[in-house]
Amino acid sequence: MADTLTHHNAEATTFAKQGQPPAERWPVILETEGWKDYRLLDMGEGRKLERYGQHTIIRPEPQAMGTPRLKPAVWDRANAVFTGDTDEEGPGRWKFSGNVAETWNMAYGPVRYVGRFMSFRHVGVFPEQAAHWDWVSEKIRQEADLKPGKQLKILNLFGYTGLASLLPAADGAHVTHVDASKKAIAYARENQALSGLDDLPIRWICEDASKFVAREVRRGNTYDGIILDPPKYGRGPKGEVWDIYSSLPGMLDDLQQLLDKDALFMILTAYAIRSSFVSIHELMSEKLSKQGGLLESGELVIREENGKRCLSTSLFSRWSSR
Ligand SMILES: C[S@@+](CC[C@H](N)C(=O)[O-])C[C@H]1O[C@@H](n2cnc3c(N)ncnc32)[C@H](O)[C@@H]1O
Repeated sequence: MADTLTHHNAEATTFAKQGQPPAERWPVILETEGWKDYRLLDMGEGRKLERYGQHTIIRPEPQAMGTPRLKPAVWDRANAVFTGDTDEEGPGRWKFSGNVAETWNMAYGPVRYVGRFMSFRHVGVFPEQAAHWDWVSEKIRQEADLKPGKQLKILNLFGYTGLASLLPAADGAHVTHVDASKKAIAYARENQALSGLDDLPIRWICEDASKFVAREVRRGNTYDGIILDPPKYGRGPKGEVWDIYSSLPGMLDDLQQLLDKDALFMILTAYAIRSSFVSIHELMSEKLSKQGGLLESGELVIREENGKRCLSTSLFSRWSSR
């Protein structure tokens, strides 16, 4: 598994009582150092060099403004290079050096997953999310110690690769995974089969996340933990528009209603948006104003292998009840 670390400049905060606004802590930096199948090797001059399983890969990275540490010869040995738009979701294409398999297998703890060279520079995993995976796993285990036999229900919205669904399910939770893309759901199910975890209780739902959530509210369903990792802009299967700035507030209103009275957590991550973590912190704080607990917000970063530098990847805000 990854070495994930938490940095913050505030004293440990006590958790607020239910019915009160959450206690707050920010900035919190969640750092991932990588694991056997992932390392950030180097970065600079608008690019990053990473290792995913046996492949070394170069992709554009506007945040990498410094100078690469490793020699150009090391970069030249990369198996695949993505060239194109520097925008996170921008189009481009892959160039390969030598015989590179289209897909390959990797693992994180009990979960195995397929790496693949996809359009929009994705490779089948978002490594910075490891900090969230470990935290969720810890929450589930703590609860199992506290309330043995309690069946936890987790909702994973915009679930894509399925890693944030498979890992909690492997820890014993019942998981509902929602994504608008049939292809993405097929990839996630492929990861489930590859992991030999086909028997896990996961509901795979191909639907617009906002519609699904609104329906769950009408049905009166609740969850013990909610994970949402929305894109800046996306579309539901019937063309429904997701725009983080206009859609997120309403979705958080609904999600607040989906939190069970004994709920454990909610995690929001945001990528490639022109906002600071303060903005999503304030929004979460407003929407969870009676939840008590603790709200922490900041950035997800990846630490370079053998290096002192960190790469900022995304913003997050997470709430926990205890
Ligand atoms: C940033 S990715 C999430 C990555 C995921 N956390 C992971 O680690 O694999 C965004 C996902 O949101 C999905 N998506 C986009 N618009 C959607 C919508 N309106 N409803 C549901 N899913 C949507 C996309 O299909 C994509 O899989």
